Amino acid sequence: MRGIILSGGSATRLRPCTKVTSKQLLPIYNRPMIYYPLNTLIKAGIKEILIIIAPERAGDYLNLLGSGKEFGVRFTYEIQDKPRGLAEAFIIGENFIDDDNVCMILGDNIFEDDLSAEIKNFKSGGKVFAKKVNDPERFGVVKFDANGKAEQIAEKPKKWISDYAVTGLYIYDFRVIEAAKNVKPSERGEIEITDLHNWYLEKGELEVAQVNGEWIDAGTFDSLLEAQILAKEKLQDKLII
Ligand code: DAU
Repeated sequence: MRGIILSGGSATRLRPCTKVTSKQLLPIYNRPMIYYPLNTLIKAGIKEILIIIAPERAGDYLNLLGSGKEFGVRFTYEIQDKPRGLAEAFIIGENFIDDDNVCMILGDNIFEDDLSAEIKNFKSGGKVFAKKVNDPERFGVVKFDANGKAEQIAEKPKKWISDYAVTGLYIYDFRVIEAAKNVKPSERGEIEITDLHNWYLEKGELEVAQVNGEWIDAGTFDSLLEAQILAKEKLQDKLII
């Protein structure tokens, strides 16, 4: 299993804090934000991690994280010159993934749960993680049928379909590279990760697991504050880096 942390974008919602550095390097209590998704991957035993970053922030990442030796892993860096969509990570990461499985986590997603077993047990197909939220309009959402099986996934649908958000941790087999290459840009001009979930869902090869603990997408000032509190009150003794 190879790991990807997608850590690009321009984070205009967090200006002026993101004027001189990347959102994913802002502090969450006593660590830079990216340490939390890094913990998720490293705890799961992943040793090869690709970090995808915006060109203007590359120096900050290298200075902070270096080769990965300090953490017992190896980092590879790639530049995403424009935020063309989450699915582009698998095109940028084509050579890195090769024919392995890949677990991608967004650099601003913080999970209370230890998802190591879920990541380690993955064999093939696709696997995503859902969490019931109060603001589903902010996310990709998954609708379940009466038997609890995923039947529809949509990116921020205009009309409500479900309260279950698809969180920013995704596990796929290497076929995701070809699937990503065939995704057409959405109305907002991005190649959407939701289209990749649907590619596996249509084949009957998508597993949707539930997240029990807290999950935070720290992309707004309010969620950044919630993340600080979660980190201070519940995560300190669970972190390995
Ligand atoms: O947080 C989970 C949600 O993340 C999912 O429910 C949605 O399905 C998924 O599309 C995504 O939605 P967001 O609206 O939160 O995506 P956003 O554009 O904010 O990007 C998420 C992170 O990825 C953000 O930290 C910036 C980074 N990013 C984003 C894009 C579009 C990149 O590094 N490159 C990109 O091209």
